[in-house]
Amino acid sequence: MAHLISTSCSLKISSSRKACFQRLNNPSKAYQTSFTPLTSNQPFKGVVLRGDKPHRKFVVNATTTPLSQKTPAQPTSFSHQNSDESSKPQRVMVIGGDGYCGWATALHLSNKGYDVAIVDSLVRRLFDHQLGLDSLTPIASIHNRIRRWKSLTGKSIDLYIGDICDFEFLSETFKSFEPDAVVHFGEQRSAPYSMIDRSRAVFTQQNNVIGTLNVLFAIKEFREDCHLVKLGTMGEYGTPNIDIEEGYITITHNGRTDTLPYPKQASSFYHLSKVHDSNNIAFTCKAWGIRATDLNQGVVYGMKTDETEIHEELFNRFDYDGVFGTALNRFCVQAAVGHPLTVYGKGGQTRGYLDIRDTVQCVELAIANPGQRGEFRVFNQFTEQFSVNELATLVTKAGEKLGLNVEKISVPNPRVEAEEHYYNAKHTKLIELGLKPHLLSDSLLDSLLNFAVEFKDRVDTKQIMPSVSWRKIGVKPKTVTA
Ligand SMILES: NC(=O)c1ccc[n+]([C@@H]2O[C@H](COP(=O)([O-])OP(=O)(O)OC[C@H]3O[C@@H](n4cnc5c(N)ncnc54)[C@H](O)[C@@H]3O)[C@@H](O)[C@H]2O)c1
Repeated sequence: MAHLISTSCSLKISSSRKACFQRLNNPSKAYQTSFTPLTSNQPFKGVVLRGDKPHRKFVVNATTTPLSQKTPAQPTSFSHQNSDESSKPQRVMVIGGDGYCGWATALHLSNKGYDVAIVDSLVRRLFDHQLGLDSLTPIASIHNRIRRWKSLTGKSIDLYIGDICDFEFLSETFKSFEPDAVVHFGEQRSAPYSMIDRSRAVFTQQNNVIGTLNVLFAIKEFREDCHLVKLGTMGEYGTPNIDIEEGYITITHNGRTDTLPYPKQASSFYHLSKVHDSNNIAFTCKAWGIRATDLNQGVVYGMKTDETEIHEELFNRFDYDGVFGTALNRFCVQAAVGHPLTVYGKGGQTRGYLDIRDTVQCVELAIANPGQRGEFRVFNQFTEQFSVNELATLVTKAGEKLGLNVEKISVPNPRVEAEEHYYNAKHTKLIELGLKPHLLSDSLLDSLLNFAVEFKDRVDTKQIMPSVSWRKIGVKPKTVTA
């Protein structure tokens, strides 16, 4: 997989996975000061390195060293779900726990009293380096994040750094941590990234499909009762001209009736990887009795959760660029820097959206209410529907209240998608389990916009316009210029 990336300093990278592991394989250089390897009286010890394998493993427990920097007051609202000492806390492995949804979820679950381990290859940070992108918010290293959390709350989060496509690495994390539930966020999650060129399309499907297959095999082999909570996307369904059900639809055809998986019409190589995942999970639930919940998530917006806001080293990432930025986050940053809101095509594209505070709530609800062995549950995880034009109007109004001059422009749509269509997706199952949605309110938009204004000096306006075209995807590795 050759990825030729040209930035201002002309960096040539032959394989994203190889490059990732080159960094990880040199722990003394990259990590020596930021973590404490486990010592012999702890359950999973030290750094595992194998010289004879192309993908080496690097397993770290980063929970011990207190930081000497200033320590703000202890949060007062932190709960201890498992206050009864006799009840063993559930052990939850969060794959992709260094990412946008994963980091917020790992902290939320840790705060609620679950024993949490993060598994992450850090490949998302590598994508930023390769493409010359950066989060609007400065984000601390995963080691410092975890140590800060420990110093503020006393709660430990275990850390395993490695690629879940490497089954040996994943096996060791399973044997070491023994999860009761696995929340799987660990995928390449950008549709535009998967449409840059052939190598990124292949990387996306290989990374996502093989990674998920490995998780299924690891559950079968080592933790057959473990509940898999897998992040899918509402984008798997596409935009059919009928209501979208939650995973299944009952059809009567030629006088016979059956309940079948809802048809999927994915619209990028990324979305297709999620459909392939869903099929593999559904099959293994039937064949091996795996217990799984597929959370078909809508577009996530927002920055703060109760846990990430308590210290700047816990801040979450916030993407606004044309590759990783999601619509509402992007519009808020555009408004803050005086860039017109870029509506793709006619702007009638309608999708489900949710606040990141609801992402963490939904995942916790899914874990706390597992299905039966062999059951493949599908929940549509979003709280409201908006068209792109509706979002642009909301941001324009909120911006005007704050004295910002917000304009909207239509730019040629880089994607292949319906720009005006029917959309009505069901989303009742998580509400039935107790989800209390944070709906998009004026005050939330105000705070998102204020937040974008606060960090506007970090915005690279060259990254705002869409740079990836669905129709122009090529075989050759695309050069991305800074
Ligand atoms: N953000 C959204 O709006 C949104 C919407 C719908 C669905 N989702 C899904 O939720 C999940 C998380 O999304 P996100 O926005 O937090 O993405 P993200 O890119 O911020 O985080 C993903 C994390 O997974 C890690 N990762 C990727 N491949 C890995 C591998 N092979 N081994 C180990 N770690 C790996 C990355 O390093 C990163 O830290 C994804 O599966 C995504 O498809 C996200």
